[in-house]
Amino acid sequence: MGKINAVITGVGGYVPDYVLTNEELSRMVDTSDEWIMTRVGIKERHILTEEGLGTSYMARKAAKELIKKTGVDPDTIDALIVTTTTPDYKFPSTASIVLGKLGLKNAFAFDLEAACCGFIYTLDVAASMIQSGRFKKIIVIGADKMSSLVDYQDRSTCVLFGDGAGAVLLEATEEENVGVVNSYMRTDGKGLPFLHMKAGGSICPPSKFTVDHRLHYLHQEGRTVFRYAVTNMGDDVTEVMKMNNLTVDDVNWVIPHEANLRIIEAVTKRVGLPMDKVVVNIERYGNTSAATIPLALWDHEKNLKKGDNVIFTAFGAGFVHGASFYKWAYDGAAVK
Ligand code: ACO
Repeated sequence: MGKINAVITGVGGYVPDYVLTNEELSRMVDTSDEWIMTRVGIKERHILTEEGLGTSYMARKAAKELIKKTGVDPDTIDALIVTTTTPDYKFPSTASIVLGKLGLKNAFAFDLEAACCGFIYTLDVAASMIQSGRFKKIIVIGADKMSSLVDYQDRSTCVLFGDGAGAVLLEATEEENVGVVNSYMRTDGKGLPFLHMKAGGSICPPSKFTVDHRLHYLHQEGRTVFRYAVTNMGDDVTEVMKMNNLTVDDVNWVIPHEANLRIIEAVTKRVGLPMDKVVVNIERYGNTSAATIPLALWDHEKNLKKGDNVIFTAFGAGFVHGASFYKWAYDGAAVK
């Protein structure tokens, strides 16, 4: 038997119907469309407003679309992994809830948390599972309901985030020169003070005090995070290009995590890549954390061609960061 490669054979996605515009945010906090567009590049974001619905709802919608599009028999799925920072519950895992709703009979499910880097870390883990020869079909879902931890009284963070989910089917193939090639991933470990949620975990469980002091919201020191994001993503892309002897001309697409258009432009400049090779949809979705990369794939799938050299890169709380090299395996939105 030849070497087993792990290839994406389809993409599904979901964003909630409700659109939160810059105009509406300007009525909630002291901000403006002009500030948000020039400093961050976001026009609108989708928000899951229905009570009682969480991340698993969006993950399930994305996975359902994926199963329908690919025509995969759900009974042949070996594993389902959800990467999220906003699970439905502390436990059980969001993946177990999604698996139950989808009715997968022969699969196991777990969550993997790596903040905004979740999708590229999880894709790498799932690819290793497939390359080992033990598993053939894995659904990887990046999903986040960021509105559940954003303080809509804090103008410095509430304009940044949105909700959504993207899913890919990863399958085993013996075809050569396709799929996940390799990656350069690192965790800095010094990011805690700059990006975190103070309460709700085991260090500071929920209490009247934590609620009264508004400690259940995302805290970010934007300027520091910005600096680290540009340096790390830029260097990670350069490293992965070096590992694979890729020149700027060899790269067809860079699909970055999308937190701020200025970060993406600065990363691109650092690496020397033109912006027309970079897939960006932050204007419509905002930062959906683990969902930004699969949602970009969802939007861009129709433009991808078999053999395209794709680089994914991301940066997030922790600080977690990395880049991976992927060779696209099919033409356009048609699956297989
Ligand atoms: N509207 C108007 N003014 C604002 C707003 C707003 N929404 N937010 C901040 N300001 C003001 C500030 O109060 C400040 O005013 P001052 O100069 O009078 O003090 C001024 O704008 C500049 O503030 P900065 O924080 O320096 O603004 P900056 O240009 O750095 O943009 C931002 C802030 C968008 C947060 C940027 O720093 C950023 O994108 N950081 C990185 C985000 C990121 O990559 N996160 C990682 C992934 S997220 C995850 O892992 C969950």
